[in-house]
Amino acid sequence: MAGSFVPLVYAAGRPKVGMGTASLDVRKVDAGGHPVVIGPDALRVLDQEIGSASTASAFFILGDTNTLRHCLPELLAHVPTLREASTIAVPPGEPSKSLAVCQDIWRHLMDSEADRKCHLINLGGGVISDLGGFIAATYKRGITFHNVPTSVMGMVDASIGGKTGIDLFGVKNMVGAFHDPAAAYIHPMFLKSLGKRELMNGVAEMVKHGLVQDAKHWDAVRTAPLQDLGTLALLIEHSAEIKAGIVKRDPREHDQRKVLNFGHTIGHGIEAHSWESPHRSLLHGEAVVAGMVCETWLSWRTGSLDRGAHDQVVEHLLDLYPTYRMESSDPHRIIALMRNDKKNSEGSFRFSLLTDIGEAKVDVAISAAQIQEALEHYRSLVKGHSRKA
Ligand SMILES: NC(=O)c1ccc[n+]([C@@H]2O[C@H](COP(=O)([O-])OP(=O)(O)OC[C@H]3O[C@@H](n4cnc5c(N)ncnc54)[C@H](O)[C@@H]3O)[C@@H](O)[C@H]2O)c1
Ligand SMILES: [Zn+2]
Repeated sequence: MAGSFVPLVYAAGRPKVGMGTASLDVRKVDAGGHPVVIGPDALRVLDQEIGSASTASAFFILGDTNTLRHCLPELLAHVPTLREASTIAVPPGEPSKSLAVCQDIWRHLMDSEADRKCHLINLGGGVISDLGGFIAATYKRGITFHNVPTSVMGMVDASIGGKTGIDLFGVKNMVGAFHDPAAAYIHPMFLKSLGKRELMNGVAEMVKHGLVQDAKHWDAVRTAPLQDLGTLALLIEHSAEIKAGIVKRDPREHDQRKVLNFGHTIGHGIEAHSWESPHRSLLHGEAVVAGMVCETWLSWRTGSLDRGAHDQVVEHLLDLYPTYRMESSDPHRIIALMRNDKKNSEGSFRFSLLTDIGEAKVDVAISAAQIQEALEHYRSLVKGHSRKA
């Protein structure tokens, strides 16, 4: 199957949504607490919706210096309502998800006399939607915000589902809130300026969506020509729909939403470990790929996944993504970092594991010894592997 192109059957015939007098080429998907508007005319829908929000006292656009440079002109071209908006720029990257940056933004809003009826537009990747969502959840006890994601990670994952937050004392997403955006507007044309490494970073979450929920999507993502923006846009549309559907069924992650943590339990430990040596720091999606390799192995080792499916997943992930080289002492340190993760309480680790390609189960108890074994296995795999892609 590898190398062949699987037709995107689910992408055929996007229904047009009638909005006011115009018929716009978008699809509206319900993510429970908010809609996700996807397609070439998504930004026109944003303009209509905020244009008619006569109660908004002012608009603020939050972006990082890259997204403001590359994406703001396109946003303003499609959304004239925002031409008078004030922009707030933060430095690009994870360090902006900090209390210090929050204070700067809160100060900016106060200095601008922003009241509770102002709206915040988050224009950027997952850092901007997490940070801006948290600002919106807290400023004057909550203001309205709209997510306009510009990275693949933002479009298929971070902008959907109302999880907002910042990092504290080196621990990711330590402080945060559930606060739904008014909507997320997905306009894949923003991706023209996104670098390949960042693009593949977001594709990792699309791979995950296929693995936990939709075998056809897994096949499509692993075989499609992702460098073709039209093809990628259709796959993003379906991935966003998978995420929205899962969030809608379980908005506060009591049960089924946990399938989205596949690859993340060990992945977060590997990500935190990689930050300890800046020269080899991984992007979130790259760490999740390493986590998915380990957790696919655990799925097989604990008897829930057959060997053939395991081999197919692992082979693809190792070929497509950079691997993480570890010293013999590293697995121990990664497990120590995993204990800091707020999802792992009192030394017990709960995993979402695959039962098949396209299916997962949640809340599987795994011991530290089993995690150690999975990391040792990953280490030996990486030693013997040379990447094709
Ligand atoms: N809340 C959630 O449900 C959720 C889900 C997944 C990830 N996240 C969070 O998202 C963050 C990662 O998101 P990310 O990978 O988008 O990181 P990011 O926001 O830092 O964006 C990655 C880089 O790409 C640049 N960029 C973004 N769009 C661009 C464009 N169109 N053109 C040129 N450059 C562009 C940014 O400036 C940045 O340098 C992490 O903090 C993670 O915790 C949150
Ligand atoms: Zn993730």
